[in-house]
Amino acid sequence: MTDLRLAPRTGREVRVRAPGKVNLSLRVGARRPDGYHPVATVFQAVSVYEDVVARASDDLRVTVTGPQAHLVPTDGSNLALRAARALAARTGVDDGVHLELHKGVPVAGGMAGGSADAAAALLACDAFWGTGLPREELHEIAAELGSDVPFLLMGQTAVGSGRGDLLTAALSRGEYHWAFGVRDHGLSTPEVYSELDALGATREPVDTDDDVPLLHALRAGDAPAVGALLHNDLQAAALELAPGLVETLAVAEDAGALGVVVSGSGPTVAALARSRQHALVIAAAMTAAGVADSVLTASGPVPGARVVAGSDIL
Ligand code: C5P
Repeated sequence: MTDLRLAPRTGREVRVRAPGKVNLSLRVGARRPDGYHPVATVFQAVSVYEDVVARASDDLRVTVTGPQAHLVPTDGSNLALRAARALAARTGVDDGVHLELHKGVPVAGGMAGGSADAAAALLACDAFWGTGLPREELHEIAAELGSDVPFLLMGQTAVGSGRGDLLTAALSRGEYHWAFGVRDHGLSTPEVYSELDALGATREPVDTDDDVPLLHALRAGDAPAVGALLHNDLQAAALELAPGLVETLAVAEDAGALGVVVSGSGPTVAALARSRQHALVIAAAMTAAGVADSVLTASGPVPGARVVAGSDIL
């Protein structure tokens, strides 16, 4: 079998696909001196994807395609570029790379699309430059780039602590089907966390033990129980900043969702469905009621960022 991570270096491109995520549970403690909030979370990677292609270039540059491409910066603040820079700095590489991002995850939607770009870019550059860093080192760089980036390297289902970057894999049985209600205008993660502070709605202590029932339900493949246990401390803050989401949640619930929750810092609404078909029904209900600018359906858990054969994507 060909090891795609060690493909020959010249005259080629490297393609990496990274998923978005939903926090099945997200509990948030009081802001720490470093500005971050301690969290206890259960992540599930879902089949909404960012695709990154690395090609030869004299310098480091990024281009973006996809329906929301115009919302993504291509300057030095771009997370994929920052990932390439961080890897180059760590390994002493001074080659260029052109990263082409194809965005499928909603931008500023609470599903970690930017973090998925960073995870994908790390893996793509590591293969493209032939630096072959061990997973643990990639994970370290990932954590420096953002709290969610390590999970998008890892994928599947995991419990996160610290600021979301300390991960333990969790067992999960079966396939979970989702409908997502997406908004054109995203929410800024720092603003949502600040709103939570203003509401005085952080908790003490933040304990992953609170998620034991959810982890049992995931192990049992009990989708109705998982639906009933979906929880997000950031939801109240997201609803303050985007009150229309109350209606989106209600429409998804009325369409028979097993559970509804704002995804991460929002504003995407995640609705857990009974089946793939039911996810389409919930998505159609959100469209018909005009409570989302667009809708997506997906399933999870899925693997984290990985190098794929050229024909697999695009
Ligand atoms: O880690 P990341 O760069 O994605 O975080 C973006 C912002 O979200 C942080 O600067 C911080 O304001 C907020 N955040 C937080 N606590 C976390 C994760 C993110 O306060 N655990």
